[in-house]
Amino acid sequence: MTNSTPILQIHNLKKTFPAPDGYVEVLRGINLTVKRGEFVMITGPSGSGKSTILNLSAMLDTPTAGTIRFNGKDISDLKDYELCRIRKHEIGMVFQKFCLLPHRSVMDNVLFRFRYLEQIPDNAITLARDILNQMGLGSISTRYARLLSAGEMQRTAIARAVVLRPTLLVADEPTGNLDGASTHTVMECFRNLNKSGLTIIMVTHNQNLLEFCTKHKICREGLLE
Ligand SMILES: Nc1ncnc2c1ncn2[C@@H]1O[C@H](COP(=O)(O)OP(=O)(O)OP(=O)(O)O)[C@@H](O)[C@H]1O
Ligand SMILES: [Mg+2]
Repeated sequence: MTNSTPILQIHNLKKTFPAPDGYVEVLRGINLTVKRGEFVMITGPSGSGKSTILNLSAMLDTPTAGTIRFNGKDISDLKDYELCRIRKHEIGMVFQKFCLLPHRSVMDNVLFRFRYLEQIPDNAITLARDILNQMGLGSISTRYARLLSAGEMQRTAIARAVVLRPTLLVADEPTGNLDGASTHTVMECFRNLNKSGLTIIMVTHNQNLLEFCTKHKICREGLLE
């Protein structure tokens, strides 16, 4: 692996799900290369397969056919513990619905990311505090997540996703529940993270956000253009 090795290389990826009358072919042969430092956006009609691509890229699901290379390695060749390490340390995820613990503080929500590590680093609180400051949440780190505005909730979710400094951030419609001003703040956070070296793949329905990306792909009926 060199620095020019793409983070993600997806080749002829297919995904079929069982359906009452047989099978539904959701992805019909996707190709996608995501290089280090890119900010890739995927748009396309509802049901075209965008979330399926992200879930496969984040290794939350397995393809029916085709290959996914992460940092140059075919993930179907990796042992479970290696996949687990990549999911824990190298990939962060952000969703439309934030997925926070409502009755825990902003800080606790970010610290939650450390929970599944074999060893919690001594500087976990410092890392969490630094990323919360970077997200503009330093002054409300003790506030319960349920009391936040939608934009603050999403910035907390982003802080949780990136506190371990992953190589890849996968974001599925992260601004789908936000108003215009919060969308802008969240996109500025993504832009700053991308500028500091984080590679991002994001799905959006908002065409106005395309100015933030370095590469745009359109998903239509299980194919990527
Ligand atoms: N686990 C599953 N079992 C069966 N069908 C599924 C499953 N997951 C997704 N599908 C189907 O695959 C198709 C693509 O779904 P996907 O969620 O990837 O679309 P999408 O492009 O993200 O849509 P949206 O913009 O509405 O979020 C849909 O028809 C969906 O019903
Ligand atoms: Mg979706």
